[in-house]
Amino acid sequence: MLVVESLVKRFGGFTAVNNVSFKVEKGEILGLIGPNGSGKSTIFNMLSGTFPPSAGSILFEGSELAGLPPHKIINRGIGRTFQIPRPFRRLSIFENVALAGYYGQGGGSGSHSRIKAGESAERALAAVGLPVDRNASVDGLGAAGLKKLELAKALATEPTLLLADESLGGLDEHEMDQAADMLRRIRDDLGITIIWVEHIMGVLMRVVDRVMVLDHGEKISEGLPAAVVSDPRVIEVYLGTDVDATQAVTAAAAR
Ligand SMILES: Nc1ncnc2c1ncn2[C@@H]1O[C@H](COP(=O)(O)OP(=O)(O)O)[C@@H](O)[C@H]1O
Ligand SMILES: [Mg+2]
Repeated sequence: MLVVESLVKRFGGFTAVNNVSFKVEKGEILGLIGPNGSGKSTIFNMLSGTFPPSAGSILFEGSELAGLPPHKIINRGIGRTFQIPRPFRRLSIFENVALAGYYGQGGGSGSHSRIKAGESAERALAAVGLPVDRNASVDGLGAAGLKKLELAKALATEPTLLLADESLGGLDEHEMDQAADMLRRIRDDLGITIIWVEHIMGVLMRVVDRVMVLDHGEKISEGLPAAVVSDPRVIEVYLGTDVDATQAVTAAAAR
């Protein structure tokens, strides 16, 4: 479904992503982990068109995406969530999601429909368990609710590939488990392929099919969760410094 080759991103003289290649198969959940600043969000920003790669290729369903603007990439079927939710506070929950649905339309024909956007929004809100009531306010949402809203906005664009960026930040343990189960249901029930960037590894390892590990912008490991958590290079740069390392090993081993 997705074939990324030798992706590079430089910011001035600094290389944030250095020569990273990977593939994603239709229907899988790929976990993308790595210490803070290792280039995870930068990879998402290139995949979603927030900024163009400095070099490399992003083939999605056989066509090149590198350098396309975000709206074109959304129309091809790649949706994303943002690490920090920034909803429109003056719009209702429903309106926020319907707006995303509206923006996500127009792929082949360029035509937009408010009715279709509303229908996409209702489906997306139901999928994440937010109120479908058209007037419910964003102000009532806590951290977990705002993460659900991010997810609903991405789903309303009707993606075939979902890029989920650190969707567990700011959640308590129970909320984290619920969010992880939700990502799995989105894959299982809606058939959406997922790349999941996450800092909290324990929960991620329970849900993903494969993991890729970044450090200083380079891919240092890739494979099944159980293999990755026992890779010496991963232990050295990541697990060794991370409080939930033991939990990650246990979660990966329990699969
Ligand atoms: N727009 C930008 N301009 C300059 N540097 C950036 C920009 N975005 C990210 N970086 C830098 O690139 C590196 C990788 O960042 P990021 O991809 O956000 O890491 P992660 O998501 O893995 O925590 C960091 O050192 C960060 O400061
Ligand atoms: Mg990030």
